[in-house]
Amino acid sequence: MKSLALLIFAFTAGVVATNYTPNWNSLDSRPLPLCSRYGSEWIWWKWRNHSQSDVVEYLDKHFHGQSYAEFAPQFTAEHLDPDGFADIVAASGAKYFVLTSKHHEGYTLWPSATSFQWNAVDVGPKRDLVATLKTAFKKTDVHYGLYFSHLDWYHPLYISDDKLNRTDFVDLHELVNQYEPDIIWCDGEWERRDTYLKSKEFLVWLYNESPVKDKIVVNDRWGEDTLGKHGGFLTHYDHFHPGQLQPRKWEDAMSLDKHSWGYRQNMKASDVFTVKEVLLKLARAISCNGNLLLNFGPNRYGQIVPIFEERLRSIGNFIKPNSVAIYGTKAWIHQNDGDNVWYTSSVRNDHGLDPRRIFNPQDQENTIIYAWIFDIPDNGTVNLPSVGQTDKTKVAILATGTAVNHGSIGKGITVDLHALPLKKLPSTDVIILKIEYATSLYNPLAPQVTFTIV
Ligand SMILES: *[C@@H]1O[C@H](CO)[C@@H](O)[C@H](O)[C@H]1NC(C)=O
Ligand SMILES: *[C@@H]1O[C@H](CO)[C@@H](O)[C@H](O)[C@H]1NC(C)=O
Ligand SMILES: *[C@@H]1O[C@H](CO)[C@@H](O)[C@H](O)[C@H]1NC(C)=O
Repeated sequence: MKSLALLIFAFTAGVVATNYTPNWNSLDSRPLPLCSRYGSEWIWWKWRNHSQSDVVEYLDKHFHGQSYAEFAPQFTAEHLDPDGFADIVAASGAKYFVLTSKHHEGYTLWPSATSFQWNAVDVGPKRDLVATLKTAFKKTDVHYGLYFSHLDWYHPLYISDDKLNRTDFVDLHELVNQYEPDIIWCDGEWERRDTYLKSKEFLVWLYNESPVKDKIVVNDRWGEDTLGKHGGFLTHYDHFHPGQLQPRKWEDAMSLDKHSWGYRQNMKASDVFTVKEVLLKLARAISCNGNLLLNFGPNRYGQIVPIFEERLRSIGNFIKPNSVAIYGTKAWIHQNDGDNVWYTSSVRNDHGLDPRRIFNPQDQENTIIYAWIFDIPDNGTVNLPSVGQTDKTKVAILATGTAVNHGSIGKGITVDLHALPLKKLPSTDVIILKIEYATSLYNPLAPQVTFTIV
C-alpha cells in the first residue's frame, strides 16, 4: 500500500486577476500566485499484467493467493499522529506539502463519490485522511496541496469511459470543492489527451471561478502533450534538472528513497539520499529558477519512518539559519562555478525591478549573493571566479555571521575558509557564504539572457 507525501521547498509567487479562456496561451499566461522495487507503487500493474516476472514470483511467494485489493485493510494508518506528522514536515523547512490523494490504482484517501469500497473511509484507516491531514497542516505555516493521478488502472467505469471518449469519470472538481487545496499536482496524464481529460476547461474553472482561484498553483501534467509546456510550474519528467537558468518556474520532483516513491519494507539506509545530496539538489534547483519536490512514503501505519524523519529534520536544521539564501531569493546572473558552488541572490531594495524577473542583476550596492559551497578544498580556500571583488566587498558565513578573509584571484575572488566556527555551524556538509558589495562591473560569464519573463 502506498500513500505518498511530497514536500516543496522554495516558491516565489502575486496574482493578476484575468478571465482565462480554454486555450493554452491564455492559461499559460497566468502568473504563479506569490506567496528493492518490491512494494513500490507500480506493483499492481506489474503483477496483474504479468509484465515483470520477479514481481509475480515475489508476490506468489510472500502473499500467496492474495489480491491487491486485499491489501487495503492492512493499510490502517493506526499510528498516524496528524499533528506530529505535520510537525516533521514543517521542521524540514518545506513551504508546501502535497499529499497523494489518489495514485494510479484509484484508491482515494478521501471518501470519493466514484470510489466505493476503495477509499480510506470505507476500507483501511476508516477515516478521511485528506481532511485529517489538512486540519493538521492548517495549524502550521506549510501550504497544503494535493497530488492526483488521472489514471484509474482497473476501474471498469474508467476503462469504459475511456473507450467512449467521455471523461465523465475523472473528477477533480470534487477534490477542489471539498478540500480547497493550495496546490494541485497532477500525474498519470500520459495516456490521455488534454481534450479527453477536459483539462483546459477544468483550469478555466479553477482560475476563474473555483473557491481557490486566487491562490491555487498547479503543475504541467494535464494530458499526453502538456509536460514541460503547459500549466503552472513545469515538472518535465521525474528527477528533472535543466542544468541552466529557465525562464519559467520549474520543479525537480525527487524521492528520498532512490528506488521508490512509495514506502518499501526492504529499503536499506544506503538507498536513502543523504542530507548533503538533497541540499545539492535544492541548491541546483533554486539557482536555476526551480523548486525542489522531495517525496517520502509513509508506512502503512501512517508513520514517517525514523530514517525519513531524521533526513527531514536535518535538512530543516540546515535551512533554518540559512533561510535568507532560499526563500524569497532569485537566481543570480551566474548559476554556479563548477559542480560544487551554486549561487542564489537577493536585493536590498527592489525598487524599479520587475517583480517577475527570473534572476537578480548584479549591482554592487544592492545585490546580496549567496554562494553555496559543497566541497571545501583541502587547502582551505575556495575560488569563486564569477564574483568580482571591490574595496567594499564583505564575505561572511551566513549561518553564523562570521566574517571571512578574501582576496582577488584573476578576475574572481578567493575566500579563506581555514578557520570555520565548527561548533556553531549547522552542518559542515555545505557552507553558505553571504557576499555583499561585489563588483557590478565585472561580468564576463553572464548568460545571454533572451528569455521573456512569464
Ligand atoms: C494491463 O491489464 C489491463 C487489465 O487487465 C489491461 O486493460 C491493459 O491493457 C494491460 N496493459 C498492458 C500493457 O498489458
Ligand atoms: C474525443 O473527444 C474530444 C473532445 O470532445 C475530441 O476532440 C476527439 O476528437 C475525440 N476523439 C475520438 C477518438 O473520438
Ligand atoms: C586550493 O585548491 C583549489 C581546488 O583544488 C584550487 O582551485 C585553488 O587554486 C587552491 N588554492 C590555493 C591557494 O592553493
